[in-house]
Amino acid sequence: MNRRYRKTIIAGNWKMNKTPAEAKALIEEMKPLLSKTKWCEMVLCVPFTDIQAAVKAAKGSKIAIGAENMHFEKSGAFTGEISADMLKELGVKYVIIGHPSAVSTSTRPTSLRQEGSGRSRERSAPDPVRRRVSDRARAGRYHGSYPQADQDRSAERAVEDIKKVVIAYEPIWAIGTGKTATTEQANEVCSAIRDCLREKYGARAARGITIQYGGSMNAKNASELLAQPDVDGGLIGGASLKSADFATIVEAANQ
Ligand code: PGA
Repeated sequence: MNRRYRKTIIAGNWKMNKTPAEAKALIEEMKPLLSKTKWCEMVLCVPFTDIQAAVKAAKGSKIAIGAENMHFEKSGAFTGEISADMLKELGVKYVIIGHPSAVSTSTRPTSLRQEGSGRSRERSAPDPVRRRVSDRARAGRYHGSYPQADQDRSAERAVEDIKKVVIAYEPIWAIGTGKTATTEQANEVCSAIRDCLREKYGARAARGITIQYGGSMNAKNASELLAQPDVDGGLIGGASLKSADFATIVEAANQ
């Protein structure tokens, strides 16, 4: 973490867990445990069906509610999809884009390709798929402040856009497996991502972007991972479903 330049964000990713009533109960349980956070921002990304209950339950606390996916179009004939406007109206502040386990086929293949391919997932994902992930990300960034499509984008605007993005590095073999990257691996990749951002958007923008590590981060290993200079937070799956574990991770991020 480097709090001088960027936000520390701990985000839970509940995936397909919890009904609205269960979501309410878990957030009520978490609220007192998370009330003393100092600089760490907390987000809970919950299933679409839980959003309303979660926003209501989190009211008055420092927990922001996020969604787990979103479509890139503003509206249209996309069965089962959810738009940025729909999420925003419910009080959603963040959305995960391109998670390997997202159900939609347009975001999923980033994870489908890797097994046994011997090549990196990003490279093996077919172009249309990668484009869709970036379309969704762009829709998220544009939403609100930049509602138009990306015509006439100046370099300056591109930099302003990227500053709204939080990046999560998640080695696929670490997601939900209990196997975590070593602190060195996590920092090395987060730092390499920052180098790419620096090249594309300049040193100032790159220095300010939050880059999280995700993949079996838990109450035991969080301190060590978060102590790395380029790891600015965590995207937490399993451990975000247990209030005490999530609170311990947030506490580690406040050190
Ligand atoms: P995990 O999930 O913490 O259960 O490994 C992380 C994620 O998929 O975001």
